[in-house]
Amino acid sequence: MIIINKTNKTMIIGVPKEIKNNENRVALTPAGVAELKKNGHSVYVQAGAGINSGFVDAAYEHAGAKILPSIEAVYAIAEMIMKVKEPIAEEYSLIKQNQLLFTYFHFASSEPLTKAMIAQGAVCLAYETVEKADRSLPLLIPMSEVAGRMAVQEGAKYLEKPSGGKGILLGGVPGVPPAKVVVLGGGIVGTQAAKMAAGLGAKVTILDVSLARLRYLSDIMPANVTTMMSNHYNILEAIAEADLVIGAVLIPGAKAPHLITKQMLTTMKPGTVVVDVAVDQGGCIETCTPTTHENPTFVVEDIVHYCVANMPGAVPYTSTLALTNATLPYAIELANKGWKKACVENIELRKGLNVVAGKIVYKGVADAWSLSLTDVSVVLE
Ligand SMILES: NC(=O)c1ccc[n+]([C@@H]2O[C@H](COP(=O)([O-])OP(=O)(O)OC[C@H]3O[C@@H](n4cnc5c(N)ncnc54)[C@H](O)[C@@H]3O)[C@@H](O)[C@H]2O)c1
Repeated sequence: MIIINKTNKTMIIGVPKEIKNNENRVALTPAGVAELKKNGHSVYVQAGAGINSGFVDAAYEHAGAKILPSIEAVYAIAEMIMKVKEPIAEEYSLIKQNQLLFTYFHFASSEPLTKAMIAQGAVCLAYETVEKADRSLPLLIPMSEVAGRMAVQEGAKYLEKPSGGKGILLGGVPGVPPAKVVVLGGGIVGTQAAKMAAGLGAKVTILDVSLARLRYLSDIMPANVTTMMSNHYNILEAIAEADLVIGAVLIPGAKAPHLITKQMLTTMKPGTVVVDVAVDQGGCIETCTPTTHENPTFVVEDIVHYCVANMPGAVPYTSTLALTNATLPYAIELANKGWKKACVENIELRKGLNVVAGKIVYKGVADAWSLSLTDVSVVLE
């Protein structure tokens, strides 16, 4: 990536260590530090921030960052804080008026967070609402790619007998047929899952409601992947034969539909595994409730359920690189131009603005908590 800073502006960027439970990712890699330095900016990284993603302090220093001993020191010095997860309560008071926070926020799921960011007067640019002209969400896609690929890995593991599954190898062996994998939803997660399952030799069926999407998938997928229109009849038929079912549907802004009810589980073969990746939106399998990496599965009607809500957290090295590949060009633009000019000139970034200097500027957030909405143009004047 070559982005040249044509302005004389420089920015101080801070990278704190994530303190949310079980969050092992970090917002910037040493390579990202080097890019920001090349553009004339200063980067301060909290000691140990990258360690769980495989990046030691010395690697950041080598790339040109300064290491600070505490989270307080990072928040105190930085004009832009780059994070992965939303700030948690103990960080709220560290955030300064007009400090730019570039991270995942998911404001619509936390009223205390929304009110705290309003009170602190921060500029909150949320990864999850940065949006391209084709309506795709470039800073969410990498995590869906990770989760989709992981779904097959986890499904294969829990199909093993000692893990509670029916004891079937996804790819089979010569003389023994492969396992059958059903993927509900052929978007980012579903496509990556289908590719991985097919690569291991499984017999894969993808169901989606979009005929255009099914056409595309039918064109690009290998011969051991079949596409099917998603409806109740076809889902019943597919799951009766399945060894592994992956839930990957999304209806933007809505709860996931329950495509497999508790009653339908009784039509499936005992020891079948369901991996409901859509659990973060309520799940597309009625019996799914969120689980954690410490305790990822439970069994209902002899069906093994894997419902971890933050799957990428288990592979922080890959997830950090995937996330920072996507965030870094935006971070450099914000640093080079300052957030206001960057958001005026780049509509993708402008859509990421959620809360600015005490005002909510993103409709979904205002609606979620019945708070007043300010037009984003007002804060960009
Ligand atoms: N658990 C995790 O750690 C984790 C990580 C990343 C993403 N996710 C979640 O995975 C889900 C899928 O994300 P995505 O990025 O693939 O979304 P996406 O928008 O790319 O794909 C969703 C697909 O579902 C299809 N769909 C909608 N209704 C359907 C139905 N009734 N039957 C079949 N298909 C239907 C859509 O046509 C679309 O192709 C989301 O809920 C996302 O939040 C979870």
